[in-house]
Amino acid sequence: MVDSLGVAVIGAGMAGKAHAAAYRTASALYSPTLPEIRLVSIGDVNERFGTLAARRFGYRQWDSSWQAIAENPEIDVVSVVIANSLHREVVEGLLAAGKHVLCEKPLSDTLVDARAMADAARSAATVAKVGFTFRRTPGIAFIRDLIHSGELGKVLHFSGRYWTDYGCDPHGPMSWRFAGEPGSGALADVGSHLAYVAEFLCGDMTSVSGGQLSTVITERPVPLGAVMGHDHAEVSDVFEPVTNDDYAAFSATFQNGVGALEVSRVAAGHANSLTFEVFCENGAASFDQRRPAEIQLFLREGRSAQNGYRQVILGPEHPYIAGGLAMDAPSVGFGQNDAFAYQARAFLEEVAGIAEADSLPRCATCDDGVHNMELLAAVARSAADNGATVSTSTIGANA
Ligand SMILES: NC(=O)c1ccc[n+]([C@@H]2O[C@H](COP(=O)([O-])OP(=O)(O)OC[C@H]3O[C@@H](n4cnc5c(N)ncnc54)[C@H](O)[C@@H]3O)[C@@H](O)[C@H]2O)c1
Repeated sequence: MVDSLGVAVIGAGMAGKAHAAAYRTASALYSPTLPEIRLVSIGDVNERFGTLAARRFGYRQWDSSWQAIAENPEIDVVSVVIANSLHREVVEGLLAAGKHVLCEKPLSDTLVDARAMADAARSAATVAKVGFTFRRTPGIAFIRDLIHSGELGKVLHFSGRYWTDYGCDPHGPMSWRFAGEPGSGALADVGSHLAYVAEFLCGDMTSVSGGQLSTVITERPVPLGAVMGHDHAEVSDVFEPVTNDDYAAFSATFQNGVGALEVSRVAAGHANSLTFEVFCENGAASFDQRRPAEIQLFLREGRSAQNGYRQVILGPEHPYIAGGLAMDAPSVGFGQNDAFAYQARAFLEEVAGIAEADSLPRCATCDDGVHNMELLAAVARSAADNGATVSTSTIGANA
């Protein structure tokens, strides 16, 4: 194993800061088996965002370009956490420079680019993975365990939604999130997470139908300065068209079961509500990201007169928690930032050459990232064809 790994994060925005913090924490989780992690650089075109994040999270320097990071021999591992349309150029450039790359979801903004990235990843000598953080959520991982162990049994029906409200103010600033092809809006932004979670629990999606994509706020004011994440900002009186979806919904058939998925960025009052219920042969379970340290569980057992959903508070007996929190006692609570730390840990373990059996579950591959985008493309195709049923395998072959 190498003595140390140098780390950089490209993008100091909303999720970039979560990556930057996660690399700081990763070696303090579980047994101390990682090599020394050197926090080398935060890359961002915006000097203020980049220097602030570097200082805040203890990175040695700020770099204004991804090329500077690619050329720096002190850097081994790079997270790419910038707008989806920029992922391909940066990921390919970093792989060509011999870096290990963890790219944020969705893999890209187009399938063509995503496939090219997966090709580059397959032929690279280094590790290239995609960050689907919700697989690291202890409650979601535990529900999956209950399905796989047979306690919940075979999945029959999945109902999921990811409602957000970052787009519900029509005076909120235009940003990269509101531009792109149909399907590159809420569907790609939060639907990519929800589709990944649905397959994590129910197996592969085989077809989608009833696709609907809607843009309900059709133009937005151009901001006067740089905007981070979903922040509000001063805006000009110039408006630009919103070209992608504020809302998306579809039905799906899975390897196991059927279901419906609904995503929104205009769901006022729901800043970050990933919720689902999964119904199985022996019972059901539900999860709500607003209460990440618990799940609801119903098992058909005992007298039906006293049966029903119960609250299960997550703790050291559930995935990721034992050793994965500084104070890993029952009921201490945790949230989405912890999932980024588990993800960083899993990625660093793989890069460091720690055997899969001794590691956290590996991160998703770029091929998984392509597959996730094929599902979203199938939804967009269904929506364009009045909700027609689209087999996901046809997207794989033809899109
Ligand atoms: N896993 C999650 O839960 C999660 C959450 C939010 C965002 N994301 C993903 O993370 C990525 C970034 O989203 P965000 O919300 O952090 O975006 P953001 O708009 O908040 O931040 C993007 C940052 O990139 C910088 N930037 C722009 N062009 C650049 C370039 N060429 N080189 C370097 N830096 C550049 C910007 O100055 C900004 O600081 C997206 O792919 C998004 O889908 C994932």
